[in-house]
Amino acid sequence: MNDQTPVFKTSQLEANEGPGHNPTDNPTMGELIAARFSRRGFLKGSLAVSAIAATVSPMALMLADDARAETKSAFNFEEVEAGIDEKHHVAAGYDADVLLRWGDGIFADSPEFDPRNQTPESQAKQFGYNNDYVGYIPIDGSSEHGLLVVNHEYTNEHLMFPGIVKVAEGKIEVAPADKKRVDIEMAAHGGSVVEIKKTDGKWQVIKDGKLNRRITANTEMQLSGPVAGHDRVKTNADSSGTKVFGMINNCSGGVTPWGTYVSGEENIHGYFLGKLPEDSKEAANYKRMGIPEGVYEWGKFHDRFDLSKDPNEANRFGWVVEIDVNDPNSIPKKRTALGRFKHEGADSIVAKDGRVVFYLGDDERFDYVYKFVTAGKFNPDDRSANLDLLDEGTLYVAKFDVDGTIEWLPVVFGQGPLTEANGFHSQADVLIETRRAGDLLGATKMDRPEDIGPNGVNGKVYVMLTNNTKRKDDQLDAANPRAKNAFGHIIEIAEEDGNFAATKGKWEILLKCGDPSVADVGASFSTDTTKNGWFGMPDNCAVDADGRLWVSTDGNSPKATGRTDGIWAVDTEGAARATSKLFFRVPVGAEMCGPLVLPDMATMMVAVQHPGDGGEDWEGFGRPSYYEDLSTRWPDFKDDMPVRPAVVAITKKGGGKIGV
Ligand code: FEO
Ligand code: CA
Ligand code: CA
Repeated sequence: MNDQTPVFKTSQLEANEGPGHNPTDNPTMGELIAARFSRRGFLKGSLAVSAIAATVSPMALMLADDARAETKSAFNFEEVEAGIDEKHHVAAGYDADVLLRWGDGIFADSPEFDPRNQTPESQAKQFGYNNDYVGYIPIDGSSEHGLLVVNHEYTNEHLMFPGIVKVAEGKIEVAPADKKRVDIEMAAHGGSVVEIKKTDGKWQVIKDGKLNRRITANTEMQLSGPVAGHDRVKTNADSSGTKVFGMINNCSGGVTPWGTYVSGEENIHGYFLGKLPEDSKEAANYKRMGIPEGVYEWGKFHDRFDLSKDPNEANRFGWVVEIDVNDPNSIPKKRTALGRFKHEGADSIVAKDGRVVFYLGDDERFDYVYKFVTAGKFNPDDRSANLDLLDEGTLYVAKFDVDGTIEWLPVVFGQGPLTEANGFHSQADVLIETRRAGDLLGATKMDRPEDIGPNGVNGKVYVMLTNNTKRKDDQLDAANPRAKNAFGHIIEIAEEDGNFAATKGKWEILLKCGDPSVADVGASFSTDTTKNGWFGMPDNCAVDADGRLWVSTDGNSPKATGRTDGIWAVDTEGAARATSKLFFRVPVGAEMCGPLVLPDMATMMVAVQHPGDGGEDWEGFGRPSYYEDLSTRWPDFKDDMPVRPAVVAITKKGGGKIGV
């Protein structure tokens, strides 16, 4: 997206705009293209389309009306008009209140946000940058009092820091970093745990909440599970191979059934500089992960991020991190059993037999969909009994077959090709190189798997596939049926017998995204979807307590789709299936993250990430955006305040469930 920054291509990093790192030519399952739609959706669509085409006929109009009348959407709200400006917009009758901004204090003694005098120490006591995943852990079962857990994925230097940008020939140039700036960046990464409470219908931050916590790129963490203590994760600073500092590029995440916060480390390749020593055994492993890319300059001041000085450090990132929020001093654990790749989210659900299933996407072009099934069972009566469930279990990678079945292939040392003959000597090796294991197993190469949302109401699972413009005609397969897939699609999985722990199931495409009025795009929104209701690039998703699907997007823009990113309500059931409506949209330059619908459905939390990052292609601005010259000063709109990523709480005026 943001290719005007020669030094810091942070949005580019986020958008995984690289060439893709999967070198294999495994399973395209032949050249068969089988875009699978539900028969009913197809019939209804054909009826409505032919009826609308014959607009001169009153009878045809009546038929179209009948078709619409049958369509019972699960959502009821007045759609927002798609478009672009410097503000956010929510459906009429709703309030969208900014709850937590970058720089807001989250402790009683946090310093005031002073963007011209930032320090690493103050940032470590303030809400971090680029909020992505937003989760909620209730206190005493309440939907009005609990802990908000938020990932801070990455930093945009040109928007954060004054006096570091020069514009030359319409392009932004960012000055090289000094150590202080790097240390502020490191403190702005990670996550936040913040007590919040709804009083008189409005959410408030409890600044002296005893469990409030900032996690940064320097927080002590423990490597846990099969990789802990392995030689390949030992470093100069840590001969035990268990003690790591920090989590980085945490994109999406989840809250476990036992009330811990899990967070996925995604684009870790951008944080490493330098060359591996000539004789390093990690060369192929790092290449498969795109390491190093050197987007950030941390390695200039911290040796562990320089591969020539500490060749194993990068094996200690790319994991799912579990944080026990009940103790603000607990040591977060990197749960290596869930594999090492560019983790998006980690949403989970309890299977029929009590085991817990985590759905995991690897966000890279041509990479894979995974799930992890715990060996032990969830104990709802004893929280502490669940606290190490994530250390033992089976990781599976998905193979989407052309006949509409899905197979979950075990990523287990000694099984199939995952043997000594292929260079694996233990489960630790398999997990450190999860992607190579997936290659050998013949997993299906997907169009950038993002969030995956299990739905406990209808028993299905929804996979967001954001886009893959590098897919060629001869690389099509049933589950990824469009070449140059610019707008992405959503797959629906039905696990066998409704058992989320099953190793087989069925799948079909719920929705191919993009503008349905342009035939070449091949989008498959229902004909009840308005010109505001379609979207491109699905990224995150939430399933609410009624089992309804909400989708947030990354990459809509004036140029790409003539609209900003936002939250769309997507019907999955009955005649309304694949109907989408716009509920909320972000200000210019932003990406939409979250969303989260609280258990009582009376609040939706959304995260506005990197607002103001761009503006060239918007006629209201038309030039690069940076600290001194911003396309928006959302959310404060004050001349002396920069644009600030923030979490927004959406409630219905007068109360009640969202979208009902
Ligand atoms: Fe951080 Fe997959 O987006
Ligand atoms: Ca994402
Ligand atoms: Ca995203």
